[in-house]
Amino acid sequence: MSIASSSKVPRHTAIIMDGNGRWAKERGWPRLKGHEQGALNVETICEACIHEGVEYLTLYAFSTENWKRPALEVAGLMLLLERFLSEKVAMMNKNGVRLAAIGRMADLPEAARKRLERAIEETSRNTRLTLTLALNYGGRDEIVDAVRSIAAEVGEGKLKPDQITAETISSHLYTRTMPDPDLLIRTSGEMRISNFLLWQLSYTEIHVTSKLWPDFGADDLHAAIVDYGSRERRYGASVENLTNSANAS
Ligand code: FPP
Repeated sequence: MSIASSSKVPRHTAIIMDGNGRWAKERGWPRLKGHEQGALNVETICEACIHEGVEYLTLYAFSTENWKRPALEVAGLMLLLERFLSEKVAMMNKNGVRLAAIGRMADLPEAARKRLERAIEETSRNTRLTLTLALNYGGRDEIVDAVRSIAAEVGEGKLKPDQITAETISSHLYTRTMPDPDLLIRTSGEMRISNFLLWQLSYTEIHVTSKLWPDFGADDLHAAIVDYGSRERRYGASVENLTNSANAS
């Protein structure tokens, strides 16, 4: 990739969907109502991504830290996931959405894991948008898993320590088949990445909006993409180098 290249549409958009709890609280409703509305919004944003020309959408749906929430909320989130997976396969097939997942899937409740595997298989031939759900996902755990598998290859003599490069690490992450995100959106105003895609976000543009996730609509996605389009991506180069390299190419 040339240093100056910056497509106006972020090929890969990742979203930290925050604010479901506050959305429900504002209405005097239980938190799960907010998650329910948040799950409904996933369909809206998938369709909006297709409309905008985004090819990869990665959503932070359940972090490794989310297990610390009250048992009822965790159980409700798992049921919502199951419901989403059984009800939305038709929408995904209609829109050309291929489902994928990243995270430590083995620790999900069996019913949710089975549904997930089925939905991934049933949408595997779609090519318009890859929707990746980060489930039981933690960025540090992902790096731990990558390091373990690289160490195993070194132990088996397949790889020498001095052959390990940044590319080796990228190719052992859960996201090895997709490009790094061009744009990260975080809803509900918090300025943190919360253990999401730690390695992959190195050069990603970040857009934080005060909108709560259930209220984040197609227009808000469009505004984030316009904001992204106005950024000059430098990948660590100076402005002068960037100008020279743009002129040279
Ligand atoms: C943060 O809101 C959101 C989550 C912990 C999980 C995101 C889950 C969904 C959008 C619903 C399920 C998704 C799918 C794909 C079925 P929060 O509870 O932290 O909000 P708060 O910060 O306002 O309390």
